[in-house]
Amino acid sequence: MFELIIQKAKQSNYDFRKGANPSDPLAHLFDDWVDYYKLKWAIANVLKPTSILEIGVRFGYSAQAFLYGNPDARYVGIDLDTNSYGGVKGAINWAKETTQSFDADFIIADTQTLEYLPGNIYDLVHVDGQQDGDGSFHDLELALKQGRYVLVDGYFWTRQNYVAVSDFLFRYANLLDFYGVIPGYAGELLIKTSPSCLEQLSHGQSYKSNSSLAIRQAYTADYYTKDCGGFDTYRRNKGKRLEDPRLQAIATISSLKTKGYVLDIGCGRGELTYYFARQGFKTTAIDYSADAIQLAVKCFDESKNLLTNVSFFVMMLALFRYKLNMI
Ligand SMILES: C[S@@+](CC[C@H](N)C(=O)[O-])C[C@H]1O[C@@H](n2cnc3c(N)ncnc32)[C@H](O)[C@@H]1O
Repeated sequence: MFELIIQKAKQSNYDFRKGANPSDPLAHLFDDWVDYYKLKWAIANVLKPTSILEIGVRFGYSAQAFLYGNPDARYVGIDLDTNSYGGVKGAINWAKETTQSFDADFIIADTQTLEYLPGNIYDLVHVDGQQDGDGSFHDLELALKQGRYVLVDGYFWTRQNYVAVSDFLFRYANLLDFYGVIPGYAGELLIKTSPSCLEQLSHGQSYKSNSSLAIRQAYTADYYTKDCGGFDTYRRNKGKRLEDPRLQAIATISSLKTKGYVLDIGCGRGELTYYFARQGFKTTAIDYSADAIQLAVKCFDESKNLLTNVSFFVMMLALFRYKLNMI
């Protein structure tokens, strides 16, 4: 498999520069990155993952490489959307635009605060977020629970990252089927997790009565679009109008205020998030269902300019309060 990936990467004509942002502050490095993204393309082309989750999207160059390598894949990207850890605020919008023709969704969230990645099991999890040793270790622990294959970017990026990722390989050796490193720009570490452990770590967790995961996993896209109160009006108007009496009541009460901040706790499909953002409120939407956040983001599909007023978080309220205390 490794030989095939390397051979395909060598033969590939994939050139990420076609979908790169000319205003990227690292544009002077683009020519050096061509082979690096050919390798990402080849990994998706050989593994043929039907579902991909990426931690650390930036301008979405890996997202594009994966999706062009395997166009039928469903992709979910998570990014902090700040100027830290190699990030560029707003870059995720470029990623959204350039992957519009694919099945791709993006979530703004801090993976360091997550216990589980949104959704369930993914064929491939790409770990390319907070590469500061501990951050990579945490993201790898998330990926281990939900990824059949885990691709770690930047294994050789810094000594700190190398030590932390090696520590992960050492500690979790009995949960990994195999792994290998493809040398290159920053060293790609490809890990195959063990199927039996994946079962235990993911599904096993969901049946623990003291875990909120069981509850969270009941809140699926199906639930929001076929069952949860107001689904019928939502399906008609894609969340753009408040026709459900329950939601209308909240909007009426909130009309006592005309500006300020809104915290939409348990935003669900996002009709109210969209409504408040359109009214000009700075809106923060949180939900512990990743499916909910994906639907809520979709409400803004035709009015992306409103997204500058909105922050989405997949997390539990307790974590969010903790985050607020930290700020
Ligand atoms: C090296 S860049 C990712 C590059 C991208 N995968 C590509 O190939 O184009 C790292 C990204 O991780 C994001 N990031 C850093 N810390 C994060 C965190 N705690 N949670 C989510 N994303 C994070 C940054 O915002 C940045 O966009």
